[in-house]
Amino acid sequence: MSVYVNEKSGVDSVEVPGSEAQPFQSPAFALFQNPEAKVFVWKQVEDSEEFHYAEISASALKKAKKGAEGLKKKAEKQQKLAEQQAAQQEQAAAKLAQLDLIKIEEDTSLPPAKKIKLKAVQENIDTRVVVYGWVHRLRIQKGPVFITLRDGTGFIQAVLTGDLAKARQTQELTLESTVALKGVIHKLPEGKSAPGGVELKVDYYEVVGLSPGGEDSFTNKIQENADPSLLLDQRHLALRGESLSAVMKVRAALMRAVRQFYYEESMVEVTPPCMVQNQVEGGSTLFKLDYYGEEAYLSQSSQLYLESCLASLGDVYCVQESFRAEKSHTRRHLSEYTHIEAELAFLEFDDLLDHIEKLIINVVKYVMEDPIAGPLVKQLNPNFVAPSGKFRRMEYIHALEWLNEHGIPNEDGEKFKFGDDIAEAAERKMTDTIGEPILLIRFPVEIKSFYMQKCADDKRVTESVDVLMPNVGEITGGSMRTHDYDELLEAFEREGLDKDSYYWFTDLRKYGTCPHGGYGLGTERILAWLCDRFTVRDCSLYPRFPGRCKP
Ligand code: 4AD
Repeated sequence: MSVYVNEKSGVDSVEVPGSEAQPFQSPAFALFQNPEAKVFVWKQVEDSEEFHYAEISASALKKAKKGAEGLKKKAEKQQKLAEQQAAQQEQAAAKLAQLDLIKIEEDTSLPPAKKIKLKAVQENIDTRVVVYGWVHRLRIQKGPVFITLRDGTGFIQAVLTGDLAKARQTQELTLESTVALKGVIHKLPEGKSAPGGVELKVDYYEVVGLSPGGEDSFTNKIQENADPSLLLDQRHLALRGESLSAVMKVRAALMRAVRQFYYEESMVEVTPPCMVQNQVEGGSTLFKLDYYGEEAYLSQSSQLYLESCLASLGDVYCVQESFRAEKSHTRRHLSEYTHIEAELAFLEFDDLLDHIEKLIINVVKYVMEDPIAGPLVKQLNPNFVAPSGKFRRMEYIHALEWLNEHGIPNEDGEKFKFGDDIAEAAERKMTDTIGEPILLIRFPVEIKSFYMQKCADDKRVTESVDVLMPNVGEITGGSMRTHDYDELLEAFEREGLDKDSYYWFTDLRKYGTCPHGGYGLGTERILAWLCDRFTVRDCSLYPRFPGRCKP
């Protein structure tokens, strides 16, 4: 028999016959397929431009035989591997088939399971319950399988034994799957530890939603020490982590505490709009939007609206999103943050300072007294000491002296002089060194907002306050407001603002003006202080900052 080889047009494939019309590409393959055949190779006729099939030379044949031997060995190896794999698959299938034989069935003679949330575990000891939640931790081993279940209200350790542990659905269970576990809650004996000192002995369970394993598994998506930006892309999953969810729970308790405090102070909650046409805190941080063809902005602060409520509702507050187009990438600036703001009528500057101090002390006290949030703060911030008593009050001018005495320069690298802004770095250094809350007061007119009341004894400075906390810096900014009509108009002029568009705000000074003041508290900032987070980004559900608006 003859086989044909053409190095240019041939193909080495079992589907090719190796004929003159459909030759192989290599002599080695030709021999590997047909060891006994005579090999003809497509080559140039000597001293001519012509090509023809000629019998392979002796030396080329020797080489081809060697090549064919190699191909044979390779094929045998592949065959062996395939057989091994098939055997393994068969074994695994047999094992699964064995596992499949284990049927998990609910014992209908057991008492009906009472549906509970995990917060109610202690009241249901020795009761048969059903708990729904996410597989937070999972230990699959020979013998019992341990699941730590999470439902948002708490955690419980569950143990699966016997067939329940061996069954396929357990062996293939993954982290973050949802399950419904039924069984009796037992108190753990001395020396064994689990959340709440209890364990759920599961007698039956169902998988509600199986999470992916392998490449797509939860732990592959949320890797500890991953780049922060990758973790922010997966924020919807990262929120399930223990620290982030703890901060969110403290946040909820903080909101409740704030509302409780204002309720006790007889202050009324209002909800001002977020789409506005007046700036409050300067044009450079405004987010502009096209409002049906008119220029509008996302609110920087609800302060002006709160001022407008005093005459109808008395002292008021709001919890509202504020927006700042902050170009700076600092650890305490967000583009959107939750702003707790209040406005109080008929009070003096000292009353305002006392009120802010009382707010912070009481809100922190209520959070620490909360049975869920209190322990979480201690867990996140073990060294936290709740502030009490009077906060240190420090005038701007004395802060400059302090900074100069401590060799901390201004933004130009020089000694501080009256009128300089105390930028973040210097403010942080001072606050961290002093190490206690500071009410920094009486800032110069030119570095503060247009609406601030000037001090009666020194018109160069305002009745203004920043509350500074160690590790974070400013968490609150407030002031008394200019309540004299003419003085306010002068301020608009000074700041180059169009007074006509503020007609509704200036009217407040016309129709029954009163001395009043207020402040804004940054929710994420107070949380960063309370929970000892490096950045306010860790205190917001889905933080927004330049370059980040998803998910
Ligand atoms: O000092 P600010 O800009 O004051 C006002 O907006 C006043 N109109 C509030 C008022 O008197 N009703 O902001 C108040 C607080 C700051 O102390 C800070 O805690 C927070 O709001 N804040 C920010 N938090 C996160 N990201 C930002 N970009 C913030 N800007 C201000």
